Amino acid sequence: MATNRTLTMIKPNAVQKGLVGAMLEKITASGFKIVALKMTQLTVDDAKEFYAVHKERSFFEDLYTFMSSGPIVAAVLEKENAVEDFRSLIGTTDPEEAAEGTLRKLYADSKSRNAIHGSDSDDNARIESSFHFSRREMFL
Ligand code: RTP
Ligand code: MG
Repeated sequence: MATNRTLTMIKPNAVQKGLVGAMLEKITASGFKIVALKMTQLTVDDAKEFYAVHKERSFFEDLYTFMSSGPIVAAVLEKENAVEDFRSLIGTTDPEEAAEGTLRKLYADSKSRNAIHGSDSDDNARIESSFHFSRREMFL
């Protein structure tokens, strides 16, 4: 896969609050093309695997419990410089520190319920896209 892609998840709190449409609108209006999209729910084991890099952290149990608590919307997004530009669009992990207009500033409830995920590197974008989507579910 080209390196101009990133993987996002609209997290359970934002799906629960009916923010999927508003967030996808902001994402596409910012120049990202949706090349894969699905609503799904992570099992506890899925969430542990997805966030395994954080398994030694104090917040890990809260993180995998929350991320498996309800449906999410996963998407692969394409844009030049996708990973970095999408991290800019969503804002910092803690919405209190996020810039005005960022998705987390607009829609997050808290640092641990921050509404949306974005891959942090091209390698992780590929790994995370394959985690959620088969080849037949990703479109060129
Ligand atoms: P994400 O992976 O979900 O896009 O978030 P991120 O890169 O901005 O932050 P990361 O360091 O990867 O942390 C993953 C998620 O864990 C929760 N977290 N809680 N209580 C805390 O100090 C804390 N730190 C991180 C957040 O929900 C974060 O999105
Ligand atoms: Mg992260």
